[in-house]
Formats: sequence, C-alpha cells, structure tokens
Amino acid sequence: MDDAVRTENIKNLANQAKRLEHIEPFHVMRIITRAMEIQASGVDVVNLAVGEPDFPTPSLIVDAAVNALKADSMRYLPALGRDELREAISQWYQQKYAIHVPKERIAVTTGSSGALLLTMGVLVSPGDEILMSDPSYPCNRNFVSTMEGASTLIPVGPETSYQLTAELVEKNWTDRTVGVMVASPSNPTGTMIEHDVLRDIHRVVQANAGTLIVDEIYHGITYGQDAASALDFADDVFVINSFSKFFSMTGWRLGWAVVPDRFINSFETLAQNLYISSPDVAQKAAVAAFHPDSIKECNLYRSRYQEQRDYLVTELKNIGFRIPVEPTGAIYIYADCSEFSNDSFQFCQDLLEKAGVAIAPGLDFGFNQANQHVRFSFPKPVSILTEGVRRIRAHLYQ
Ligand SMILES: Cc1ncc(COP(=O)(O)O)c(C=O)c1O
Repeated sequence: MDDAVRTENIKNLANQAKRLEHIEPFHVMRIITRAMEIQASGVDVVNLAVGEPDFPTPSLIVDAAVNALKADSMRYLPALGRDELREAISQWYQQKYAIHVPKERIAVTTGSSGALLLTMGVLVSPGDEILMSDPSYPCNRNFVSTMEGASTLIPVGPETSYQLTAELVEKNWTDRTVGVMVASPSNPTGTMIEHDVLRDIHRVVQANAGTLIVDEIYHGITYGQDAASALDFADDVFVINSFSKFFSMTGWRLGWAVVPDRFINSFETLAQNLYISSPDVAQKAAVAAFHPDSIKECNLYRSRYQEQRDYLVTELKNIGFRIPVEPTGAIYIYADCSEFSNDSFQFCQDLLEKAGVAIAPGLDFGFNQANQHVRFSFPKPVSILTEGVRRIRAHLYQ
C-alpha cells in the first residue's frame, strides 16, 4: 500500500462512526468471493456456503409479479405494507397455526432483516443489552450494535440443542438487559427450541419486564415435527418471519414482523423514516404465496430439503465430522470439524483452494468453540452434494 492510500484510509476511518468498531464483516463473504473468483477462472466449485434455497420462486408468485408490473405503476406504500398482504398473512396464522393475529399488528418489511433492524430500533437504547445464544445468526448482534446496544452471547451446546433455556436467561439477565432473542429453527444449527422451554423463557422475560423476540423465518422448513409459533401463548412478543426461505424468495426482499400492540406506532414511524415502504411489486406478488398451489410447491421443496439433509448428515458423519444434534429444521448442518482442524477459517480456506468446496466457518456465528465448527448449507441436488462429499473425502484422506 503506498503512503497516499494509507493516509487516505486513516483519514476515512477517523471520520467513521464509532459503532462500526463493533460490527464485523462476514468471514464467509471472503470464502464466497474467492469461490466466485475460482469459478470465473473456469474451475467448478461446490458451493455449500450460501444460506439460501436452490429452488425457483413458485410460479404463481412470479406470474403475479409480472401481471402487476404490466398493469400498474410501482409506488410508495403505507410503511406497514399493503392491506391485502397484511390480511393474507393474518389468515395464514389462522389457517396454519389456528392463531388469531389481527392484521393491524402485522408489519411487512424489507426481508426479515428489515423487521429485525426495526425491532432493535424500537427496543434498544445505547448501552442496553440483548441476550442471545452463541452460536447464532451473526446479523442479530450487529443490529443491536447499530443501535449502540450490546449483545450478551450465551454459550450453548448440544445439551440444550444449541438453544437458550429459562435458566440461562435468568442467570445472564442484568440491570441493562431489555430483551432476549431466539431463533427456532436456528441458523447455523437447524435445531428447534421446545415449546415449553420457549414458554418458560417468556415467563422469565416477562418477570423482568423485558421483551422476547422470536425469529420464525425457517418455519415451514422442518423435518418431522411442525414448529409452533410463540404467538400461540403470547401477544407481547415480537415474532419475525420472511418470504425468503420457505417461499424461496430471498431476492424479493420481503418479510414481516408481528409487533406487540404497544410498539406498533413507533415501529411504523421508524419504518417510514428508514425506508418509506418495502417493494411494491414484491408485496403484490407475495399475496400469491399463500395460494394452496404455492404452498404445495413449497412443501415439495421441503421434502427435497429433507432428502438432502438426510444424505449429507450421513455422509459427513461417515467422513468423521461430529454432528451431536442433527438439524430438525432450516437448511444447515452445524458440524464439529475438530477431528481435522482447530482453525475453522483455515479449514474452510483449504477446502476451497484444494478441493473446490465452499462452506462457512464457525467464526461467523459467534465465539463459542467457533474454531472447531463449520456450517454446511445443503439446498443442492443430491448429485452435487455427492460430488462435494467425494471432494471433501479425497481432500481429508488423500
Ligand atoms: C435466522 C435468520 N434470520 C434472518 C435472516 C434474514 O433473512 P431475510 O432478510 O432474507 O428475511 C436470515 C438469513 O439467512 C437468517 O438465517
């Protein structure tokens, strides 16, 4: 780096907001960027690093978008979303979970990411703490940091299926704690929190006058048992959901939050100011997501994910990865790689450079034994997974 560039970098950092010091980049992005470079050079990579479905968006949704684009101009909308979509989501809760959620409490957002950011925006003041598990979805702690709050990462392991418990919440609650965040099924572990455990956590949170946030974005992608919603037993929780995963719509940037009554006005004010409204075309199309034919298509995707999960869990165990708790939902396998390495980032880099397989290092999901873990994202045809397994085996045992 020449002196002029170095001086420029120092100057830029000096002007940067302090909160950025607490927001780390995704390590996996380095793996993904490198995987793209390798692919661009003509060498094929088996990419099991990106956390998104491999299936197309159901055709009724695509058709609805095309028709909407032809028929209407796309405009700003009310910040909480189109009435028709909020009503459709409300009916979805009735139909799928037999829960009455008034549409007035439903806020349509730019992906569940928008919902999470706004939720932290209405709950977290500078210095406040949010409790969450380690490992967990990395953006959550960064949403908290953006609001100048602090995340308390609570180490969890196989004994609690990598989920929080009421005891852990109680033990880690401090004067500055304002809430608890859980995800079920979770990223990166694919494990679910038992409904009774979630209810107990809610009791502890309530007793401490805090707020529970439950990320349900992998609902619908579960293997064996359906996930129950926290809305089943509480209306003072924030429930976060998305069209991204079950409906295979990651790029449409549409999600929602079910917001407790007392927060809905501030949630709306923040949404109006931060991004005005979420995409009009995506909202018009998403109503078709709840059509029985779309649901049928997505359920078919779910059975494919199950085959992919079953195949990859078995093969990874055969290779020598430890998977003490198998995923019962989502699209990930969280595996202990300590048989092969105690530096998960180096392990991922070597696997990419030497074997052409991209996976995510544990470092992205926290600090708790992060160097001994990696995440495999399995939504790929079994033929591709088979090639990935062949390469990993050859790399580790050559
Ligand atoms: C647990 C969890 N929550 C939220 C998100 C954000 O997804 P989106 O903004 O696409 O809804 C993700 C994305 O991978 C996730 O894994």
